[in-house]
Amino acid sequence: MPFLSTKITLLSLYILTFFVIQNTFVACQDFKPERVHLVDSYQGNYLFRGNEPIIGGKTFAYAELNQAMIKILQDYQFEVPTTFQLIDLNFLNGFTNEEYGNIKVEENWFKDYSQSQNFFHWPIYGSVTNPEMYTEDVRTEKALTFDNWDGDRITPRLKITYDLLHKVETLPKFIYFHCEAGSDRTGEFAGCYKMLHFGWDYQQVIKYDTEIAGRKMVIFNSNHLQWYCYYLKENLNMNISCELEY
Ligand SMILES: *[C@@H]1O[C@H](CO)[C@@H](O)[C@H](O)[C@H]1NC(C)=O
Repeated sequence: MPFLSTKITLLSLYILTFFVIQNTFVACQDFKPERVHLVDSYQGNYLFRGNEPIIGGKTFAYAELNQAMIKILQDYQFEVPTTFQLIDLNFLNGFTNEEYGNIKVEENWFKDYSQSQNFFHWPIYGSVTNPEMYTEDVRTEKALTFDNWDGDRITPRLKITYDLLHKVETLPKFIYFHCEAGSDRTGEFAGCYKMLHFGWDYQQVIKYDTEIAGRKMVIFNSNHLQWYCYYLKENLNMNISCELEY
């Protein structure tokens, strides 16, 4: 069974590389206000991206996070509400002790304030395959069935995010999505959002994420972004370019 063993080798390589990359780039860091960026807004509700909002491995950086988000709104000269609700979209997968601990810190913080409904744990992994590895026929077929095999569940999660942002409630919403570094898993989700709702091309999204991260994105996440681009093109018939032109 040569095919199966190739698959297993690929998978092992993926898992190994995943751990190496995760421990190299995204090992336990404190919250960094400069990693926070505004992604979208709607009538007093705001959507932000950033890194892990934890300090010293065990304290939820609530005040620091709020301060960082408010400062951005002031910089853009948006009106800053006096009270708002925080909604936390957490992309950690919990493969390492640190990540597992961080998920618990956030989950418990929301529980303690009886706001469990404002905490979402959405692990993101990316894709081991790249769309350019395939012939056009196979790529198109995979793009058309993306929703069936997408482990990151981009379509339903983007919908929930979009709906949260666009539903105006008494208390304005600050929606904060993040992973550990705020670059790769976060960059994947932000990029998918920008392609779907802003019509950005794959190349534009890569440029945006690279600028924010100050480095190239982890390949699994750029792979997934590119798959999602082909999905938008093939399945939703969006006029979007999914290749890098340089
Ligand atoms: C698709 O986008 C390209 C580049 O923006 C444009 O030149 C082309 O006319 C568009 N095609 C359609 C069918 O809208």
